[in-house]
Amino acid sequence: MTQPTELTEWDALRPLSPHEFEQIRKLAYQTFGLDLKTGKEELVSARLRKLVRNGGFRSFQDYYRHIVEDKTGVALAGMIDALATNHTAFLREPDHFRFFRSEVLPQIAGRETVETWSAACSTGEEVWTLACLLNEALPGRRVRIVATDISNKALRFASTACYPLERCRDLPPAWLSRYFVADGRPAQSYRVTDALRAQVQFQRVNLVERLPWPHRFQVIFCRNVMIYFDRTTQERVVRQLTEHLEPGGYLFVGHAESLTRVSHGLEYVQPAIYRNPSKRDHSWTK
Ligand SMILES: C[S@@+](CC[C@H](N)C(=O)[O-])C[C@H]1O[C@@H](n2cnc3c(N)ncnc32)[C@H](O)[C@@H]1O
Repeated sequence: MTQPTELTEWDALRPLSPHEFEQIRKLAYQTFGLDLKTGKEELVSARLRKLVRNGGFRSFQDYYRHIVEDKTGVALAGMIDALATNHTAFLREPDHFRFFRSEVLPQIAGRETVETWSAACSTGEEVWTLACLLNEALPGRRVRIVATDISNKALRFASTACYPLERCRDLPPAWLSRYFVADGRPAQSYRVTDALRAQVQFQRVNLVERLPWPHRFQVIFCRNVMIYFDRTTQERVVRQLTEHLEPGGYLFVGHAESLTRVSHGLEYVQPAIYRNPSKRDHSWTK
């Protein structure tokens, strides 16, 4: 008699049915705005299969029921982590950082505190890129970065701030020596210094819900997340982001997510950079 193997258990999981896909699609849309179009069945099945199997569920239907019934939110968070795309990199979309350094920073250099928000920061590379740039350009200035994401797992990684060598290859050597501490000889990983980490506040924020603070920022980076939302959700999110942007403040979105199809009250500056125009007087720089 053949013993049950991992493979036969795997086979025992019924394929994701159209009805199950629809249930998961709706749940992902309602809870975190993910717009799973028809054709994403394979992706959903592949990304959730491990959770379904590890949880001992016989079907995606049982797994779905567990998420809905789990009042702790842990199961839902697990599904969000599995379905969300966390890809990111240091200095990703470098045009943005060139513009930030040459155009935005000189305008806010006179501010007592420089405040930026990295919304949907994933594992933190965008956050630390901003921190390095701010500290390079404005030494000694009070820097505050709020870094948020829906994923607790990504936030934990981001706040631990320790990156394997291969993810640090594009970092300028001067940044590596000033703002990171090498681990191992030769270095196997780099960890952001405590001084930089003290400038960043991490918080879980779901962009499709009401934001938890009334605060307005001088600069918001919200990149490569709205691409996963439909137009209605994008409009809602951009409206909220605008409310949290100082008059004259800048919003950076991903280059793949131009706001041309989205109705918004922002002024276009250049590809994937927008500005809150409501008060274009000199006071923004003070
Ligand atoms: C592709 S990463 C973008 C990281 C970084 N901003 C960049 O451009 O490199 C997308 C991130 O959006 C997060 N995310 C997805 N839906 C979200 C939501 N509703 N609210 C907040 N963050 C969300 C994911 O957890 C993921 O970390």
